[in-house]
Amino acid sequence: VPVSKTHQWLEPGPIVLVTTAGRRAHNIMTMGFHMMVQHDPALIGCVIGPWDFSYNVLRKTKECVIAVPPVSLARTVVDIGNCSGEDVEKFEQFKLTPLQAKTVAAPLVAECLANIECRIEDTRLVNRYNLFVLRVSVLWANRKRLDPRKLHHNGDGTFSVDGRTIDLRERMVKWRELID
Ligand SMILES: Cc1cc2nc3c(=O)[nH]c(=O)nc-3n(C[C@H](O)[C@H](O)[C@H](O)COP(=O)(O)O)c2cc1C
Repeated sequence: VPVSKTHQWLEPGPIVLVTTAGRRAHNIMTMGFHMMVQHDPALIGCVIGPWDFSYNVLRKTKECVIAVPPVSLARTVVDIGNCSGEDVEKFEQFKLTPLQAKTVAAPLVAECLANIECRIEDTRLVNRYNLFVLRVSVLWANRKRLDPRKLHHNGDGTFSVDGRTIDLRERMVKWRELID
């Protein structure tokens, strides 16, 4: 899928998974604090703190994959964010399938709705806010999923699931380029 479509996956604010490629094994964590920063080139801001094993790996390798999980992975998403790659081989533990990415060593997650290959673009806000700015290199969408609903963390361990879509495209008169 064209990288220019990245915002259509992240602007709704789904809970996401972040994969990294360490020296020993792949790792994966859960992330709720993210946002689109720019359309073209597609830039994403995300908060990954030094309390995460993934933090040092991301700083060192400068690349990761952001994966958008379907609602069927809800419990797994929470469990992934409640253990560390320091202690657990999470892909094995949670029976997730790592797939080779195109431009980064971090793996795609076969079970996810979308996978976004990213490289670090800017680290100037990391020391201050643990805020990484990532640039998207490849976007994958898994259109074969029967249930395309995403999950949204309410910030307290409860989650909302995608519901009804309201189509207001005809009113987007100033932003025609966003509409397919
Ligand atoms: C719902 C949920 C949302 C989370 N969001 C973030 C986040 O935005 N940033 C972050 O650094 N950690 C976040 N975490 C915590 C990490 O996923 C957690 O610390 C995880 O154990 C890190 O894995 P790692 O040590 O293998 O890197 C979240 C956890 C959960 C359950």
